[in-house]
Amino acid sequence: MLKIGLIGCGFMGTMHANCYKNLEGVELAAVADVRPEKAQELAAGTNAVIYGDGKELIAGADVDIIDICLPTYLHAEYALLAMEKVKYLFVEKPVTLTVAESEELMKKSAETGCQVQVGQVIRFWDEYVALRDIVASNKYGKVVNANFRRLSPSPDWGWNNWLHTTELSGGAGQDLHIHDVDYVLSLFGEPKSLYSIKNVVGEANSYVNTVMQYDDFVVGVEGTWNLPASHPFQATFRVVFEKAVVENDGKFMLYTEAGAEQIVIEKKELAAAGGTQGNISDLGGYYNELLYFTQQAIAGAPIQQAALKDAAASLKFLLEKELSFHA
Ligand SMILES: NC(=O)c1ccc[n+]([C@@H]2O[C@H](COP(=O)([O-])OP(=O)(O)OC[C@H]3O[C@@H](n4cnc5c(N)ncnc54)[C@H](O)[C@@H]3O)[C@@H](O)[C@H]2O)c1
Repeated sequence: MLKIGLIGCGFMGTMHANCYKNLEGVELAAVADVRPEKAQELAAGTNAVIYGDGKELIAGADVDIIDICLPTYLHAEYALLAMEKVKYLFVEKPVTLTVAESEELMKKSAETGCQVQVGQVIRFWDEYVALRDIVASNKYGKVVNANFRRLSPSPDWGWNNWLHTTELSGGAGQDLHIHDVDYVLSLFGEPKSLYSIKNVVGEANSYVNTVMQYDDFVVGVEGTWNLPASHPFQATFRVVFEKAVVENDGKFMLYTEAGAEQIVIEKKELAAAGGTQGNISDLGGYYNELLYFTQQAIAGAPIQQAALKDAAASLKFLLEKELSFHA
């Protein structure tokens, strides 16, 4: 049984804890949060030891794996310490606040041999995995154009309002939109050129819209958290191939000259391995990414999906080419 130390018990830490409680071969052995009640909530029903700060956990806990779900501006500091302690580290996305920090992490990973996975969870989300397979199969011909959107109400849960402090989170461009940017880069590579706009009124980077030009197709990527709470969160895509359109917009659909049909994805078994948190399909791609991560750790195998170098490359593209774009 591998022992996991989870640092940061807020929104994403809670999601990860629910996944770990449903995964086999691992146990939540330590949790840390500066808000004791948050750590206590996650430790409930487990034997996890509670720490009042991530550094105390790294210094004192008996763990094989560390998972960092801290606000983004703290990722680098804690990840560098964690890599001295464990051989497997999970860091939420975006990997770091700056490119220089993610480069430091890569250096430390090479020095220590610590395998690092980053929470670029869209790479593990069922519909996006299915789309990757469809593109690779070439069965509908080449991609002609594509569009990926992530539209969200304003996130209101962050500890000490860190999400809305652009210097701490990078705004929606870095926090939310990076999901689609990372996925598009993983699917198509870097574009030949791009044109990108972001909002100029109000909070920096809270709306980003980018068109990417590839050799023979075009991809649009749009993200915002500028919507009111009454607006539903939407993560959608539409990919136009020579012989079909694949669309994920509430329903996952295939349109061809022969007609329209729903693409059905078999959901994972609902029975929770740990029996604690119910429905695995509710945990979506988070379960899938942590299943992969823990299986690699249990096998002592390298992390090859959503690896540190991939997340660092996506962050560099986002910060240096997209968000700093000037016409
Ligand atoms: N993959 C995704 O879809 C997704 C979704 C949401 C957030 N995230 C990412 O997850 C990370 C965490 O975001 P969140 O929404 O959970 O934020 P959050 O504010 O809900 O949680 C952060 C937690 O860290 C705790 N904390 C702060 N300093 C600490 C310290 N020194 N030691 C221990 N705990 C400390 C806070 O008390 C808080 O509970 C961010 O990087 C964010 O971008 C990813």
